[in-house]
Amino acid sequence: MCVVLFKTLFAIFAFATCGGYSGGLRLSVDCANKTESNLSIDIAFAYPFRLYQVNFDVPTCEGKREKLSLIGDFSSSAEFFVTIAVFAFLYSLAATVVYIFFQNKYRENNRGPLIDFIVTVVFSFLWLVGSSAWAKGLSDVKVATDPDEVLLLMSACKQQSNKCMPVRSPVMSSLNTSVSASSIKQKRESV
Ligand SMILES: *[C@@H]1O[C@H](CO)[C@@H](O)[C@H](O)[C@H]1NC(C)=O
Ligand SMILES: *[C@@H]1O[C@H](CO)[C@@H](O)[C@H](O)[C@H]1NC(C)=O
Ligand SMILES: *[C@@H]1O[C@H](CO)[C@@H](O)[C@H](O)[C@H]1NC(C)=O
Repeated sequence: MCVVLFKTLFAIFAFATCGGYSGGLRLSVDCANKTESNLSIDIAFAYPFRLYQVNFDVPTCEGKREKLSLIGDFSSSAEFFVTIAVFAFLYSLAATVVYIFFQNKYRENNRGPLIDFIVTVVFSFLWLVGSSAWAKGLSDVKVATDPDEVLLLMSACKQQSNKCMPVRSPVMSSLNTSVSASSIKQKRESV
């Protein structure tokens, strides 16, 4: 029973920290010709991390603006991770209902516990795959949204006379938690 509650909590947690994520970064491009500068360029992104769809406008410092986008698509690992969490949550909910209301039936033959065991093993495996894929995805997201990396995409920043600076990095602590929470869960289940 405790194990079921524990699983449910982690599933909710994983869903809330990854599936609900939105973050942003801010850059400043200070052109040699000040009238063209933009000192607060905001770039926002969110779950499911299709970063190539995140567009933004920056000055080229040559009288024009250029349209850029972030690089990469990390939706498959993020969505897989969240999907497993959602199904794990639904399963624990269903298992709890069966356990509470159909306890006699559950104990009557060995099938209930056996099915529960098999499903739990399958979920643990999917969880292991999903969370390690998402751990890799997250580290790539961190690189792709690092203000210093994003500045490299801008043609204005290749000119020494223009000053390009990171102003604010995206806050990733909740995403960190999504990965570490699932690794704790993994450890507990393998004990
Ligand atoms: C600077 O960039 C932001 C978008 O990040 C835009 O909303 C704003 O209008 C720009 N400012 C100027 C002066 O172009
Ligand atoms: C600076 O930019 C403005 C607007 O793009 C332009 O009118 C002006 O001629 C530029 N000044 C210099 C010195 O290039
Ligand atoms: C997230 O975790 C990485 C290491 O895994 C660490 O370097 C980074 O500082 C953490 N970031 C936050 C905001 O906790």
